[in-house]
Amino acid sequence: MKHSIIPPPLPPHTTLPLRLPSASELPSREEKAVFVRAMFDRIAPRYDLLNRCLSFRLDQYWRRVTIRTAAVSAHDTVVDLACGTGDLSELAAQTGARVVGIDFSYNMLIGARRRNIPATFVHSDALSTPLPTTWASVVLSGFALRNFVSIPAVIGEAARLLKPGGRLAFLEVDTPANPFLRWGHQLYFTRLVPFLGALLSDKHAYAYLPESVSYLPEDAELLRLIEDAGFQQVTKQRLSGGVAQLLTAVRKKGEP
Ligand SMILES: C[S@@+](CC[C@H](N)C(=O)[O-])C[C@H]1O[C@@H](n2cnc3c(N)ncnc32)[C@H](O)[C@@H]1O
Repeated sequence: MKHSIIPPPLPPHTTLPLRLPSASELPSREEKAVFVRAMFDRIAPRYDLLNRCLSFRLDQYWRRVTIRTAAVSAHDTVVDLACGTGDLSELAAQTGARVVGIDFSYNMLIGARRRNIPATFVHSDALSTPLPTTWASVVLSGFALRNFVSIPAVIGEAARLLKPGGRLAFLEVDTPANPFLRWGHQLYFTRLVPFLGALLSDKHAYAYLPESVSYLPEDAELLRLIEDAGFQQVTKQRLSGGVAQLLTAVRKKGEP
């Protein structure tokens, strides 16, 4: 069954900022949220194409690893936070799970709806979803952590949504630990990606992509944030030599 609860389009973002100060300049939460939403509204039509090209289709492989690692099955109720055009939602739905995708970019959700994915897509802030407490058995999120205005807030929302024993899986970009890989990756990520992004989609958005990594806390801090929110078995898995990371955890039993 396919539903959608999407309100009418947002007003045109003609006066919105095209660039965001780097993380060190501490933009306000409102400034970042407005920028991020406007940016994804702009790049939505070519988002999937750019993802596949710039990652050599590894993005979909990483998403499949996410679904497999979180052991999503037909018994699950899944929330995909910041679902974008629905890539993770689609893979989760293919297992037979009941899936709800949440995103605040109207145009990204339009992209998701066009794909006829058997899931419900809801236009909402992922930091405060309209879904009931302990409603989900799995919460997923792909490549969105660094885009949220508050990482603790989204982890808190995931903790609220999950039943005790429920599984959390955050897929995100990462920086390889190996110095040689790191050098090549930096070159690709900070030079080639913005260049190709500008050529094929949006200059400002694809310049922000490498910059946005600076919004991610250090590994230990990120794992601690997840643990402190009421999770156990908190694990980080490096994917493809550390170009991406998968953070997984299990909601503790007996936590509020
Ligand atoms: C890089 S895209 C990832 C989309 C998708 N998860 C994927 O795997 O391709 C990041 C998404 O996060 C969404 N986003 C960022 N902050 C959000 C928030 N607070 N609430 C809802 N969506 C948000 C953006 O609109 C965008 O669709």
